[in-house]
Amino acid sequence: MKKVLVLNGINLNMFGKRDPAHYGAVTLAQIDDSLRDLGLELDLAVECFQTNHEGEMAQRIHEAHGDGTEAVMINAGAWTHYSYGIADALAILEVPIVEVHMSNVHARETFRHHSVFSSVVKGQICGFGINSYLLGLRAAADLLQDPD
Ligand code: DQA
Repeated sequence: MKKVLVLNGINLNMFGKRDPAHYGAVTLAQIDDSLRDLGLELDLAVECFQTNHEGEMAQRIHEAHGDGTEAVMINAGAWTHYSYGIADALAILEVPIVEVHMSNVHARETFRHHSVFSSVVKGQICGFGINSYLLGLRAAADLLQDPD
């Protein structure tokens, strides 16, 4: 089974309690469970990690070099829009990276329109709630079949 590492950043542990107009009622634990279930269908081992600490996130991305991770899916929350540290950590990875967001960031405040990860990810999926993650995992599965 190929391993996909799912990374969730700052404030995303609060899904279910936070701003339901943008993020609905689903919790991060439910998202992680759904991803692991879909992973079984797609023959992928899904590992999920969340932190509110930028350094811990960088550390986990560094560890992905030696732990068999073959693709990464990331929702970095607000770090997406300004963290060059996380962007640099992702840039060191050699595996495909998919960026996801629950909300349609392009329909929200201007600061959310820009992702500092754009040049290091294969693509971005946003606006579909939990389905952004499920579609992102399918995209990662396709990339693992055919990297081009
Ligand atoms: C988010 C969008 C970000 O702009 C925001 O800071 C988040 C969540 C999303 O999933 O829609 O924390 O990444």
